This record gives sequence, C-alpha cells and structure tokens, in this order.
Amino acid sequence: MPERTAPGPAGAVDAGRLAGLIDRERAAYAGRHPASRRAFAEAGAHLLGGVPMTWMRMWPGGFPLYMAGARGARLTDIDGHEFIDFCLGDTGAMAGHSPAPVAEAVARQYGERGGATTMLPTEDAAWVAAELARRFGPVHWSLTLTATDANRWAIRLARQLTGRPKILVFSYCYHGSVDETFIVATPEGPRSRAGNVGAPVDPRQTTRVAEFNDADGLERELAAGDVAVVLMEPALTNIGIVLPEPGYLDAVRELTRRSGTLLINDETHTFSAGPGGCTRAWSLDPDMVTIGKSIAGGIPAGAFGLSAALAAQIMADETADIVDTGGVGGTLAGNALSVAAIRATLEQVLTDTAFAAMTERAGRYTAGVREVIAARGLPWHIVQLGARAEYRFCPRPPRTGGESDAAADPQLDEYLHLYTINRGVLLTPFHNMALMSPATTDADVDAHTQVFAAAAGDLLG
Ligand SMILES: Cc1ncc(COP(=O)(O)O)c(C=O)c1O
Repeated sequence: MPERTAPGPAGAVDAGRLAGLIDRERAAYAGRHPASRRAFAEAGAHLLGGVPMTWMRMWPGGFPLYMAGARGARLTDIDGHEFIDFCLGDTGAMAGHSPAPVAEAVARQYGERGGATTMLPTEDAAWVAAELARRFGPVHWSLTLTATDANRWAIRLARQLTGRPKILVFSYCYHGSVDETFIVATPEGPRSRAGNVGAPVDPRQTTRVAEFNDADGLERELAAGDVAVVLMEPALTNIGIVLPEPGYLDAVRELTRRSGTLLINDETHTFSAGPGGCTRAWSLDPDMVTIGKSIAGGIPAGAFGLSAALAAQIMADETADIVDTGGVGGTLAGNALSVAAIRATLEQVLTDTAFAAMTERAGRYTAGVREVIAARGLPWHIVQLGARAEYRFCPRPPRTGGESDAAADPQLDEYLHLYTINRGVLLTPFHNMALMSPATTDADVDAHTQVFAAAAGDLLG
C-alpha cells in the first residue's frame, strides 16, 4: 500500500506521448467494460466511494472491474473477459483462486459437518499450529482473521512482555492498518505518513522509524531502550521490493538482542520466498512471526507465533488479561471454517513442491521483463522474491524505502496497468507486483512478457 506520489522519474519516456497513451488506454478500458462501469455507477448510491472497501478505488481506469468468477490463475469479469491474474488479490489468493482442496474443506466444514463460529476449538487448529511452527520456527501460535490483527496483537504482547512503550518500523513499510506504523523518516526527522486517517495520536509518540538497510540508524534509534519490538518485513514489499543487503538482517538481530528489543518478522507478503517465508529461507531467528492473507486460500485468516520462552512468560503474567477484554483477541478469530481452510491450504496447496514451481515461474517472469527492459534501454529494473516479482522505474534496485518511494511514477503505473488489463493480464493495483500461484503456467508468464514488450514498444514509439 504505497502513498500516491507526484509524477516521478519516467526517465527515457516522453511525457506528452505517455499522456496520449494513457488517454488511449482509458478509452479502450471504458469501451471494453460497459457492464463493470454501469455496476460501479449504480453501487455509488449506497457504497462508500462506490466500492465495498475503499482500496478497490485504487484500480486504474476510473472504475474497477467487477468479478464474475475466478479459478486457479484466471479471473473473469462481468463483461465476459478472461484475465491471467498476477494480482491474486494482492497476495490473498497466492494459493490460486478456489483451489479444490480448500473448496472441499470449506464445503465439508460449513455444509457437511456444520458450524463456522462456535467459540470452541476444532482439531484442525493443533495441526495448523504444528505446521506453522515447522515452517517458521516459533513454537506457539494464535489465530486471527487478518494480518493486521496478527500484527496488532503481537505488538500488544511485545509491549506487555518488555514493559516498554514504543515500537520501531522501517520507513515506507506497510503492516496493515496498525495505528503505530504510519510513520516515515525524512531528512527533517520522522513524520506521520501523508494521508494518515484520523490518527489517534501523532505516531512519533508511539513509534521510532529507521531506513531499511541502515544498521547504524537502527542502532541509534534503539539506544534509548524504549522500544519493545521491531516490526519488519525481512524484505520490504510494499514500496516495490527492497531486498536486505548481505549481513543486514544479522545486524538487526544482533542489535535487537543487545538492546533487549523483541523482533517480529511479518511474513504476510514475504511468504512468497518459500514454504516458511524469508524466516526459513534465510535461516532467521525472530522472536515472533506474523502472517495472514494467503494461508487459508482466500478465506479470512491470520496468525502470530512466538517463542516458547515468550509464550511461557505471557501465560504466567497475571497482569495480562489475554482471555477476556485485555485488548488481544476477536470473536471470530480461530473459527472452524478459517482453520479448516488453513489446514487444506498448507497441507495440500501451498506445499514445499508448489513453492518450487511458483519460484521457477517467477524466475521466468523476471527474466522476460529484464530482457525487455534491456532490449529497450529503459532505466528500470526488476526484483524477484521467490514467487513474487516487481519492476520499478529506476535503473538499480533501491536500498531503502525512501529511495524506492522516489522511483514511484503513478502515470507509468496507470499506463502499464491499463495496457495489460486491456490485453487480458491483471497486475496488482498497488505498484507493479506480480505473483505466481501453483496454477500459474509458463504460458501465462510468456503472455505477460509479450504484453509488457508491446507496452514498452508503444511507450518509446
Ligand atoms: C506485510 C503486510 N502485513 C500486513 C498486511 C495487512 O494485511 P490485511 O490487510 O489482510 O490485514 C499487509 C497488507 O498489505 C502487508 O503487506
């Protein structure tokens, strides 16, 4: 979830030509999708902003496509167009749309056995926790409905466990709608992120911020000893993909340990790196892991895990009410339907074997895009993180969130998103992320490469 920034460094691209191409693609989009346009106009009467959730306004073209159905890596809209889906619900559908094992598990739980929400555990939950422990390391797990809630509750536990008031995040991170995280670093010091809606307090009161890949900066921020927990993605994924430099994550772990600060790896997106996310792929050792979005095949679910020592400490803490109104938990969290869906997804869909194939597809995607960028001499680059890849409008991969933000170009984004949609390929509306599901094929990837090559060709004339 990036901020909308001003027109950026289009580089080799002629601004007038780009504006003309955007107009052409907007007109084509409107012409191809009359049913979606009509549905959007009618929905405006009672839906806030015309959509069920205001992020859906992020799609280019003035109105979103209305989905008729989706299966595997394909999605059909109500105008009858079929798309190869590389957006995959911005990771929520990384398992592919409605994979058969999850569809069967959901039908079994909701239909055959009956019961979705009972405030009682089902036996699937212990299997799920053991599997999350096997994949990510932390041995004790609790279930939520979203990654946002996993982060919120993990932060609360971290403050309770350490007795410290603040958290630390990295500039231009995104961890869900968590109040403490909407802060960026600037040369003039930290500030609230632009557009921060109804912030309860200035985030500088609750949060310290450092630039990613800057161990010295992190050390300075931790020196005061008031940070309970560093909440991080092992690689930033919400401002393009920013990979950690060699040794950086070791330095983060060393600095957090030395200052008595806990460390949370938010694997919600970096799960793309493999069956146990970056945590397992890169042998990391955080105190807690949070995850959500894809783990239940598109059914709402999230989770956080913590080490045995922290689990023992919180369970023994008589001042922490974790079973009633202490600020951690939710009525529908850990419900039987979500848990059955997580089990089916982890046991049968997002398996170790599936990740190997997804990563290979993403490698093919990355190579294809890289070839087009090189052949056309565009000052752009692409970065891969397992099953996910993303191109950005600067010649070299940024080192920090701030650098990556400076490479944002909403006009180029709009052009490329409309161009690909008009030719049957869906990218995520947030920057230029593409994700591979177990159902994505080499042919799907090659179709995107062709469309991307044609878009670059039109751009340069
Ligand atoms: C890294 C990360 N963590 C957490 C979240 C929050 O996920 P949700 O909106 O499903 O709660 C997101 C959403 O984009 C994310 O990218």
